[in-house]
Amino acid sequence: MTMLRAHYPWMNTDEVIYLNAASTGPHPARAVERGREWLELRAQPHHISIPHMVNAAQHAREHFARTIGADSDEIALMPNTTYGLNLAARGLPLRPGTILTFDGEFPSCVYPFMALGSRGVALERVPFGEDGLPDEDELITRIGRGDVVAVVVSWVQYASGFVVDLERIGQACRKADAFFVVDGIQGCGVLPINVHELPIDIFASGAQKWMLSPWGTGFVYVRRELHEVVQAPDVGWACMTTTGDYAHLTDYKYEFWPDARRFEIVTLAYQDFAIANESLSAMHEAGGPLALSEHIGALADKLVAWAESRSDVKLWTPSARSKRAGVIAIVPDDMTGALARLKKAGVVCVPRENAIRLAPHGYNTTEDIDRTIAALES
Ligand SMILES: Cc1ncc(COP(=O)(O)O)c(C=O)c1O
Repeated sequence: MTMLRAHYPWMNTDEVIYLNAASTGPHPARAVERGREWLELRAQPHHISIPHMVNAAQHAREHFARTIGADSDEIALMPNTTYGLNLAARGLPLRPGTILTFDGEFPSCVYPFMALGSRGVALERVPFGEDGLPDEDELITRIGRGDVVAVVVSWVQYASGFVVDLERIGQACRKADAFFVVDGIQGCGVLPINVHELPIDIFASGAQKWMLSPWGTGFVYVRRELHEVVQAPDVGWACMTTTGDYAHLTDYKYEFWPDARRFEIVTLAYQDFAIANESLSAMHEAGGPLALSEHIGALADKLVAWAESRSDVKLWTPSARSKRAGVIAIVPDDMTGALARLKKAGVVCVPRENAIRLAPHGYNTTEDIDRTIAALES
């Protein structure tokens, strides 16, 4: 199996150890090359045919679908995670009641749902447990209360790296007749998932992090049975079947695509999705989410073991592999000193919510992690 390092020649120097995929995933060299080609074509657009554009978009739907176990006609291309979450917030037929999320969620799971107050739908945040991590038991208890109309959570928490139990939460939602909406961005691409086997209604993810793709690329999965139930708040020319024939756009036939393309509203960033296609092919060729999760899990094991061996460092991320993905959050007593030492050693990472977030990917090696640990100990 080829892991991803070969796609990143610039990583083969001692200068940089890139552990920041949870912020921005770097493009593999072949994706950069594809981007150059598209920019050249785009500079003289008569070299780009409509089928070329339409195919790039369709391949992107197929890649995203494969990444999460969906069918490509359940995928709508989006510029990021938050558009998909807004589709859920404003498009699902929510009766008045409560939407639950966890406290400490990334704001994309909060603001679009807070905005529903005038419709009689209130967002309630379930507090952290004593360990500073999402309290899944408390969430499940509240879902059973009777007033809950939807639950929105991140698959992987952006700061602590905690992986939620999608099966358990989704089942509780089904029992309570509540919709289940997932922000997938911190796991998508590097954790295996099969959305058809899970009680998930809507799953939204940007591709700019773990999927190593351009800003402005992402998707939303809408469960097939909901395609006609979700009433898209925004409507545009690209939602309609008339987009299939550019010669007759002004027929104004108000007929939505029968599949998830009905949620795509406007002209897409074709060149960016073409780049994303290269990144995603490289990831699939390396074994896809399952193989990547094993590789990343093994790298993370080392960071976890190191943090647990230290009396001056707290591990915020759960130590069990099943409860973590690529985000490993550590809290050294001396945060400022630790950040400075990492920076000096060329380790690219960021502080989030009073922790240092280390985010290795398929291009990182055991040596990268050993050098990171050495830097923290120096
Ligand atoms: C959990 C989570 N959701 C969403 C986002 C970003 O949202 P968007 O893709 O809409 O910019 C981030 C980025 O930091 C995130 O960590």
